[in-house]
Amino acid sequence: MLNFFSAKKKDRSENIEIDMSRIPKHIAIIMDGNGRWAKEKKLPRTMGHKAGVETIRGIVKEASALGVKYLTLYAFSTENWKRPSDEVNALMNLLIQYLRKEFKELNSNNVIINHIGEISKLPSACQKELIDAYNNTKNNTGLTLNLALNYGGRNEIVRAFKLMYEDIKSNKLNEECINENLISKYMYTNSMPDPDLIIRPSGEQRLSNFLLWQCAYSEFWYSNIKWPDFTKKDLHRAIYDYQNRDRRFGGVK
Ligand code: FPP
Repeated sequence: MLNFFSAKKKDRSENIEIDMSRIPKHIAIIMDGNGRWAKEKKLPRTMGHKAGVETIRGIVKEASALGVKYLTLYAFSTENWKRPSDEVNALMNLLIQYLRKEFKELNSNNVIINHIGEISKLPSACQKELIDAYNNTKNNTGLTLNLALNYGGRNEIVRAFKLMYEDIKSNKLNEECINENLISKYMYTNSMPDPDLIIRPSGEQRLSNFLLWQCAYSEFWYSNIKWPDFTKKDLHRAIYDYQNRDRRFGGVK
C-alpha cells in the first residue's frame, strides 16, 4: 500500500525505497515480449497480448498511485502492420475491449485516456473508442495515459515537418520562430514533458522507432522480464534505479 504520509515508499520484498518527491513525471514503456511469453507456454501469440493487457491494467493503476503524470505505452507501431492479419486484428480487438472494460475505473481514477500516433489508419471502431475515451476524460486532472497506436517516431517527425511547412506557407511561422521548443509543439506530445524514463522489458535493448525526438535525455531501463510478467515491483525497481542515476543533461555537477 502506498503510504501518503511518508516521503518514501518502501518495497518490503527488496531493499527498494522510492523517493516520492522525485517520481519521474513521464514514464514511457515499450511493452515487449508478449509473443515469446506465449511461445514459452505453447500458447498462440494473441494469448501473450491478452496477458499483456492484464499487465497494462496493474501498471496504469500503480503509476497513477505513485503520482506519475504521463505514462506512454507503445501498443502498436507503424511497423506492426507487417504482422499476420490475425494478430493485427486481435490487437485491435483487445484495444476496443480494454477501452470499454476499463473506461469506468480509469475515469474514476481521474486518468486522461489520450492517444498518440496516426489513428486515422486504424479500424473505425478503434478510432471511435479512442476519440470517445479522450473526449470523456480530457477534463480529468490525474495521470495522462498515452496509448501509442500506429505510432512511429520518424512518422511523427515527418508529420511535424509537414505541419510546420503549412504554417510557414500561411505566414503563421517564419525562420526566426523555429527552435527546439517550437518543434516539440508539432509532435503528438506537444504540451507534455519529454519522458524521464523509458522502460523496455523482454531483454531487447533498442528504441524501435519510439519517441525519437523526445528521448534526447531520457534514462533507459531494460529488464529480461517479458511484458506479461512485468509487475509493479519491476516498475518500482525501474523508478528506484532512475532515482539513483546522475542526470547531468550534458552539463557538470
Ligand atoms: C510487443 O511484443 C507487443 C506489441 C507489439 C503489442 C502490445 C500490445 C498489448 C500489450 C495489448 C494491446 C494494447 C492495448 C492498449 C489494449 P511482441 O509481440 O513483439 O513480443 P515478441 O517480441 O516476444 O514476439
